Amino acid sequence: MSSPFLGDLGRRFARLATDVVVRSPRLWRIFRPIVRKQFDSIAGEWDTIRTPGHLAPYEAAVAVVDPAPRAALDLGTGTGQGAFALARRFPEAEIVGVDLAGSMVAEAERKTPPDLRGRVRFEQGDASALPFPDGSFQLVAHANMIPFFDELARVLAPGGQVLFAFSTGAQTPIYVPTERLREELRRRGFTEFAEFDIGTGTALLARKADRI
Ligand SMILES: C[S@@+](CC[C@H](N)C(=O)[O-])C[C@H]1O[C@@H](n2cnc3c(N)ncnc32)[C@H](O)[C@@H]1O
Repeated sequence: MSSPFLGDLGRRFARLATDVVVRSPRLWRIFRPIVRKQFDSIAGEWDTIRTPGHLAPYEAAVAVVDPAPRAALDLGTGTGQGAFALARRFPEAEIVGVDLAGSMVAEAERKTPPDLRGRVRFEQGDASALPFPDGSFQLVAHANMIPFFDELARVLAPGGQVLFAFSTGAQTPIYVPTERLREELRRRGFTEFAEFDIGTGTALLARKADRI
């Protein structure tokens, strides 16, 4: 039987969770178990229900990341496609993909191409409370993922870059308007904003201030 989280109900719930949590991150604890259940229940079907070219805006932004990161994090990695794209683009980098849903992590591990094993790893975890020291990554990327601004800023190294991509722009169920992203990032000292419009998708890239 197909999951009740597929289809319109699932998309509406994802948008509600995104809107509420971006406004009030402390309410995440209420949404967290439901979001985890939602994505656990659709992990096996995720790659068949995504729109074609869904990572195009993500890849366009990744293409201009400079300098190449030594370590990069893909938050809300799902089945790992974003992490694999990072690994292909940055052949010297260590890549970590984190997802709240254990079934998504299992799918990502299963789908890891043999040549990327050892350099790309996946962990089950929560983007609102990551198990990494401050400044661990030079790139933190999100594809269709609810952002947790304080935590992403903490794990990003000074001078590092953050990326947000939404496969179908404002139609994406998990979507945060660009102006809202810019405002949250500016308050945390981010600069060098770059926007991307690729097909129906959008992306934003920004740099964390480079201070000790
Ligand atoms: C819409 S899917 C996107 C998956 C993938 N990035 C893609 O674009 O194909 C959102 C993913 O984020 C995960 N997720 C949601 N909230 C999360 C959190 N707080 N921490 C880590 N992962 C989270 C979900 O389990 C789900 O796999």
